[in-house]
Amino acid sequence: MGPTAQATGALPGATALVRTWRIGVRNIDENTITSAVLENLAGTDNARLKQILTSLVTHLHDFVREVRLTEDEWKAGIDFLTETGQKCSSTRQEFILLSDTLGVSMLTIALNHAKPAGATEATVFGPFHTQDAPLVESGADITSGAPGLPMFVRACVRGLDGEPVPDAEVDVWQADADGLYDVQRPELGDARRARAMLRTDAQGCVRFRTVVPTAYPIPTDGPVGRMLVATSRHPWRPAHLHFMIRAAGYQTLTTHLFKEPDPYLDSDVVFGVRTSLVGDYVEHQGGAAPDGSVIDSPFYTLDHSFVLPSVR
Ligand code: BEZ
Ligand code: FE
Repeated sequence: MGPTAQATGALPGATALVRTWRIGVRNIDENTITSAVLENLAGTDNARLKQILTSLVTHLHDFVREVRLTEDEWKAGIDFLTETGQKCSSTRQEFILLSDTLGVSMLTIALNHAKPAGATEATVFGPFHTQDAPLVESGADITSGAPGLPMFVRACVRGLDGEPVPDAEVDVWQADADGLYDVQRPELGDARRARAMLRTDAQGCVRFRTVVPTAYPIPTDGPVGRMLVATSRHPWRPAHLHFMIRAAGYQTLTTHLFKEPDPYLDSDVVFGVRTSLVGDYVEHQGGAAPDGSVIDSPFYTLDHSFVLPSVR
């Protein structure tokens, strides 16, 4: 026998339903609570929402039973999640940081971005992307005062058959030699540096000058930082450049190019490293740079082709 429903009209603007359940919601105990809640979800019209909530409640209840959660622990968990929400602002997303550090972000990416052989792998988006990166011409210097050794990047976008992808949007952002993104420097206000948006040329390539990225700790002045301390984990990400590449007819790619050597490549706090994403950062001891200038101190070059599958 399924639930029966009777409209009461008791809720303003909506029809309240009074349901009679096969498993009543009285005298619930630790063994019947899960079935009771699941039966309460049985009327969810959206099939996917129903599937997700049913699984969530089942796993959550099993977890609470398995660890025999105490009331103090339940309260600590509620306080932790409350603080996580309170830490969020327009420039800080502590929930995404929590998801990243618990591996949920990379798990979701692994499930949703299985790539065909030859395609560039995806990795975490992170919290430091902005919508207002300056649109610059290929060849531009995007440093804008960011500290660090000069680096000349050539990034090309290709399809799976090797065809160049012209007019692709290449959004790039990174930390500087101090391990900071521009948005982490209040003294910069809204000024942007070491980030840009470029468009690939007829050969599917962009070039720009920037600085060599450095490893950096994720923000630790919130509940996620406390969780890392409590679990004896370090907060570091290995050095990387971020790329988001969009092109008509191709799947959007969000990825990084990591730099070797780096002490954190095998212990990235957000589990984002893929061997295929370690870029070919080449150190030069000064001399002629790819932009035609002569540099009398060390600089780097980085040349990389990103391969995008077409949209299905
Ligand atoms: C980042 O690479 O910008 C990042 C990713 C996940 C968490 C924190 C930072
Ligand atoms: Fe980053």
